[in-house]
Amino acid sequence: MRRILVLPGDGVGPEVTLEARRVLEAVGPRHDLKLEFEEGLIGGASIDALGTPLSDAVVARAREVGCVLLGAVGGPKWDDLPVDQRAERGLLRIRKELGLFANLRPATVFPALAGASTLLPSVVEATDLLVIRELTGGIYFGTPRGRSIVEGRREARNTMVYDEVEIARIARVAFESARLRRQHVTHVHKANVLEVSQLWVEVVNEIAADYADVELSHQLVDSCAMLLVREPARFDVILTGNLFGDILSDEAAMITGSLGMLPSASLGDGGVGLYEPVHGSAPDIAGRDVANPLATILSAAMLLEYSLEAPAAAEDIRRAVDRVLENGHRTQDIASATDAGKAVGCAAMGELVIEALGSE
Ligand code: IPM
Ligand code: MG
Repeated sequence: MRRILVLPGDGVGPEVTLEARRVLEAVGPRHDLKLEFEEGLIGGASIDALGTPLSDAVVARAREVGCVLLGAVGGPKWDDLPVDQRAERGLLRIRKELGLFANLRPATVFPALAGASTLLPSVVEATDLLVIRELTGGIYFGTPRGRSIVEGRREARNTMVYDEVEIARIARVAFESARLRRQHVTHVHKANVLEVSQLWVEVVNEIAADYADVELSHQLVDSCAMLLVREPARFDVILTGNLFGDILSDEAAMITGSLGMLPSASLGDGGVGLYEPVHGSAPDIAGRDVANPLATILSAAMLLEYSLEAPAAAEDIRRAVDRVLENGHRTQDIASATDAGKAVGCAAMGELVIEALGSE
């Protein structure tokens, strides 16, 4: 029996995690997997109930269970809180406390969706890349940080800091991943300006020496942003720090048609895995049964693959998603103008995936 801790969070989080959970419940018995679920609070939901975006009890459960499926956090209701009490802080803290330094964000184009991107189908078609984002360091966590008044003026600061150990361990994840793919790592940086990036270039080169079979290139982050929309198919594994990875993974998502399609896995060396869609809580569409649950359903597939060592069950889900899309079903975010009227809702999309399990 394997337990999964579900943290639905805010906005569309509860709707999309419900569908992912239903898909997991359906796929389990087909692959001899006994799955049990428990739920916990994170983000605004936790602030409302407990006065904190993440309780110690939830962190402890996550450690014990070892496997977390998360929806999304945040919303206008909590936006005016100080930065260290906001809903997002719950997400940042759980990543940090569980030591989840490696964030894997694969962006692949489902053939049926090549037309859903705002870019030309000929440009996006062959896209199959994996963003490996460092998740527990950099400017998100560096100190000193905060606001002050200096000579009567409001001032604010954040600090981008990485040490060589943090860089080396995420670089290894990138090279190992590239070995299972097309053997190419693009390290993305801003070494023409930042000392932090210069250290990244240095350390990544050192680690590369252990991976002679993997080709390494270094790319400035601004030109990478440009190349991603010009020629996304040139990328295999993109290795980068926390802030650049946050930005580039949203850009990569749009190449695939919608932010509603992109899953992620956050891993560390403590054996805990956290799986969540790349998209946010989308408060504007929450509670209306229009959200796209596929990013969370595909995150559940990553959970099966990385935490439960059930690659066949993961593949079953991916094939089902593929089939549903091939059959022309779309949520509103991936529907073309002509199909928009026929778009299915969040729950219906979940149901379609369940029905398609076992597809060849
Ligand atoms: C993401 C999100 C988070 C981040 C926010 C919600 C704190 O944008 O997972 O990409 O910046 O990491
Ligand atoms: Mg983001």
